[in-house]
Amino acid sequence: MPKVYIETYGCQMNVADTELIRGHLSRSGFSAVSEPETADVILLNTCAIREHAEERIFGRLGALSKHKNRRPHVQIGLAGCMAQHFRDNLLDKTPHLDFVAGPDAYRKLPELLAGDPFVDVRLDKEETYADVQPERGEGVRAWITIMRGCDKFCTFCIVPYVRGRERSLPPDAVLEQVREAAASGYREVVFLGQTVNAYRHGDTDFAMLLRAANEVPGIERIRFTSPHPSDMTESAIDAMAECEKVCPQLHLPLQSGSDAVLNRMERGYSVAEYLALVDRLRAAVPGIALSTDMIVGFPGESAGDFERSLEVMRRVGYDSAFMFKYSSRSHTKAGKWQETVAEEDKGERLQAMIALQEETAASINRAAVGTEVEVLVEGPARRRDDWLAGKTAHFKTAVFPANGFAVGDTAAVRVADATAHTLIGAASGEDVR
Ligand code: SAH
Ligand code: SF4
Ligand code: F3S
Repeated sequence: MPKVYIETYGCQMNVADTELIRGHLSRSGFSAVSEPETADVILLNTCAIREHAEERIFGRLGALSKHKNRRPHVQIGLAGCMAQHFRDNLLDKTPHLDFVAGPDAYRKLPELLAGDPFVDVRLDKEETYADVQPERGEGVRAWITIMRGCDKFCTFCIVPYVRGRERSLPPDAVLEQVREAAASGYREVVFLGQTVNAYRHGDTDFAMLLRAANEVPGIERIRFTSPHPSDMTESAIDAMAECEKVCPQLHLPLQSGSDAVLNRMERGYSVAEYLALVDRLRAAVPGIALSTDMIVGFPGESAGDFERSLEVMRRVGYDSAFMFKYSSRSHTKAGKWQETVAEEDKGERLQAMIALQEETAASINRAAVGTEVEVLVEGPARRRDDWLAGKTAHFKTAVFPANGFAVGDTAAVRVADATAHTLIGAASGEDVR
């Protein structure tokens, strides 16, 4: 049996794709290994979102190529977004690469691995892998891709070019995966898509899918990522509010707090519209935790534009944020524009933004001290023996004394202390499930 080693980079959709690839390859006679040393096939499932991500992967590829020295039969390949990005010249540029498979080509991996060096980067606007059973990782959380691709074409973003057009899985296939996850012992499902709330298949929209998933026994928590603010319909908000398993937590990427910048990003909403959406969400789902993605140093971002980003972040008060320096990407509209913010200024803006976010997160978490939270236990805490770690419904990491609880339990935990990233608890001793 040939052995496959896979390393995954990028977003959760890539993590879920790796589970699909694993499932597909294992049914085709391959077995998975967790180290490259014994592998016959080494596969990197890659990300192209920023230049830095790609540089890391090229570096890793060089390091892994040494496995061919003593074992020349080893095949090394790239899958995912970067494979798609460099489709035209990867095999020429990278001599130790044997195969390149874009995000819509995984079905053919087994046959192709049997042949000569190959590149398959055709994007297929129908491919959803709806019938491919993933081989999920261990844990309490199952990732379920419900839609693929993106039609938004934000001017900074490479995703639509490397993932192709938006397409949704049939609701039956999604719900079957939810039931199968519950039967395998997972307690939480996370629906995935680059614009996950744009989900639509026939007459079924995103809100209907949430409501149907809410009825599946055995699953206690439902989350989804990433929703696009423009697709956050009233019916989706109502479904969030009314489905008791849908967690009071939303990742709602803002990108910039300046209308001028949002316009050039072609994000499709203004700051006022975004803030009105936040108000509606907070009215419908009291106490909802919000997180965001922000970009600093987009072409044309003035010092004033950047201040507006900080202002909106202060105003919303995000529980957490992913913050990035703008990285110019080929294919994209903004990639053809002159960059106007020096690397050094981008760095300073990013540091200032991170500092603000740390303060905000610390103060939100401090306010939770003295309250009781429900923690779905994921495993041992990293830093303390006999402590456990898990997530609250608000998707905050919490650690607490084990007190007889085990992975998969939902523990009521009194928050005794907090940092910007972690709630520190004392268990009340009661299983609230
Ligand atoms: N579909 C999601 C975003 C997916 S990409 C959405 O629209 O919200 C994840 C994040 O990477 C983006 O939200 C953005 O903040 C960041 N990102 C994307 N392209 C980038 C680029 N060219 N430079 C820097 N950050 C980028
Ligand atoms: Fe990229 Fe915009 Fe699509 Fe998100 S919505 S994946 S940022 S193009
Ligand atoms: Fe990266 Fe592709 Fe995800 S570019 S962020 S792995 S969709």
